[in-house]
Amino acid sequence: KFEKIWLIFGVATLLVFLSVIGVSAFYLGNQPPSCLATINPEKVDTTAPFDKPGLNKVEGKEWDYELVFVASAFNYTPGEVEVPLGAKVKVIATTKDVVHGFNAAGTNINMMLEPGYISELVTTFDKAGEFLIVCNEYCGAGHHLMSSMIKVV
Ligand code: CUA
Repeated sequence: KFEKIWLIFGVATLLVFLSVIGVSAFYLGNQPPSCLATINPEKVDTTAPFDKPGLNKVEGKEWDYELVFVASAFNYTPGEVEVPLGAKVKVIATTKDVVHGFNAAGTNINMMLEPGYISELVTTFDKAGEFLIVCNEYCGAGHHLMSSMIKVV
């Protein structure tokens, strides 16, 4: 008798959890950021904006610059970039091969780069200095060699 009550309780709880997840995913639009835009990993070099890696000035957007990075085993392009102090920048990055990390120490930039997806983040560089970008997803033998540098001047 009691077993049946607990069984019903368990199934009811499960249904509540599933509907909460369903509502949050489809109604509120909660999705991992990487699901927003896709790209063919084999055509990264010829697909805008990744055909022009680096800092590009943009007009008529909420941000002043787009900072484009391409990751591949085992480096980032560009390997070093200068950003003007105070600039509002959209960082746009993807990977040509496997999953890489993209973490700029001392900033709020920390993204995961997945093949086939574009990772984006808008930030303001309000601290001068050199910010080392490292890969924080294990991606193979050269994982520890992957780095780039954002110089805010
Ligand atoms: Cu790229 Cu670890």
